[in-house]
Amino acid sequence: MQQDMIVVIDLGSENTTRIARDIRALGVYSEIHPHDLTAEQLAALPNVRGFVFAKGPNRAYEGQIVEPSAAMTDSGLPAMVTEGPVPTLDELKPFIFDTCKASPNWNMENFIADQVELIRRQVGDRKVLLALSGGVDSSVVAAMLIRAIGKQLTCVHVNHGLLRKGEPEQVVNVFGKELGANLVYVDATDRFLDKLAGVADPEQKRKIIGAEFIRVFEEEARKLDGIAFLGQGTIYPDIIESGTKTVKCVKSHHNVGGLPEDLQFELVEPLKMLFKDEVRACGVALGLPEAMVYRQPFPGPGLGVRCLGAITRDRLEALRESDAILREEFDKAGLRGKVWQYFTAIPDIRSVGVRDGKRAFEWPCIIRAVNTVDAMTASVERLDWELMERITARITAEVPGINRVLVDITPKPTGTIEWE
Ligand code: XMP
Repeated sequence: MQQDMIVVIDLGSENTTRIARDIRALGVYSEIHPHDLTAEQLAALPNVRGFVFAKGPNRAYEGQIVEPSAAMTDSGLPAMVTEGPVPTLDELKPFIFDTCKASPNWNMENFIADQVELIRRQVGDRKVLLALSGGVDSSVVAAMLIRAIGKQLTCVHVNHGLLRKGEPEQVVNVFGKELGANLVYVDATDRFLDKLAGVADPEQKRKIIGAEFIRVFEEEARKLDGIAFLGQGTIYPDIIESGTKTVKCVKSHHNVGGLPEDLQFELVEPLKMLFKDEVRACGVALGLPEAMVYRQPFPGPGLGVRCLGAITRDRLEALRESDAILREEFDKAGLRGKVWQYFTAIPDIRSVGVRDGKRAFEWPCIIRAVNTVDAMTASVERLDWELMERITARITAEVPGINRVLVDITPKPTGTIEWE
């Protein structure tokens, strides 16, 4: 294994994530672990050079004040104790480099080399299945698994018909052609749209899309022989809380929930120790296109939550086209990567307009562009008026069925980012 490690031990601090990130910022790999690491667990962690015991206000577990386990204190490894303000980089540096003698060898190249080795050890000559949505996490997992085990991986890309323009094609091109993956591409558009026909309730739409997704994926999985593992895009924020014992609200580990009992796979989760920005850097290092790695968030139910009310094919098409125009114009204006998320939505109403001198009874298209840090609250991007006029002219001219363009200037709260 390539990288040295400093282990941050959660003794009730609220800053464990921050400390681990600061250590990584100094070029040394760091993980967060609970106070009761056993000797066996500790021995399984490669190249541990020292501990940071992070004490804090949540220092109780089942009514007891927690202390570092004997395995740690008996290990002879150096430990730094913190409480209160987060240690500064200047406080961390002498401990990490002089006391622990850790090398600053945490970088993507070493991380990838280590993961490739770990994946090969875990998987051996068996086979792995991956649901490849085309989102950042599943794409990076796919690229990592292809690097590690090549054709022992089968990717299944389910196109539910609610993807953005060009997305399924990009998945097929990048993974099926350029990276030469075993890719099963399933165009399930008709299935999804038939199930969704006439359903206007947002929650019900989401449930149908989620359940149908599992069903299609499961059908494909059953067609394949001898799959032992399921690849998963779990990332570090998903599991940090379940890795600690002092936090009350343990978040459930997200997975492809709902797979039937008899389809039990062991998991391969090569990104589970990465933060989101590190996942992107890993994707770039694995050779994925920047547009795929730096794409903005896109909800699982896709355009289904932006084609408001009961989805119809014509309105869905208008939505996909208007979204593509919006993205193209934002790109040209240099706004990609500057505005956190932007998209169009089309409500299920029509208004009277005029086109070529004739009455046009058509849909409006809503533009939403927001900035946020954690998606819990959001502010609205103040868009340039000339840009808005250009986008309006293009959408009303190029997208059949749209005669008006509206801009949503509602922050979250009271509006959520998505409309449904
Ligand atoms: P809201 O609409 O709740 O959205 O303000 C917050 C962020 O989450 C995204 N979003 C989803 N992401 N599955 C996802 O993976 C979903 O079902 C989903 N719904 C909303 C949304 O795009 C925004 O970035």
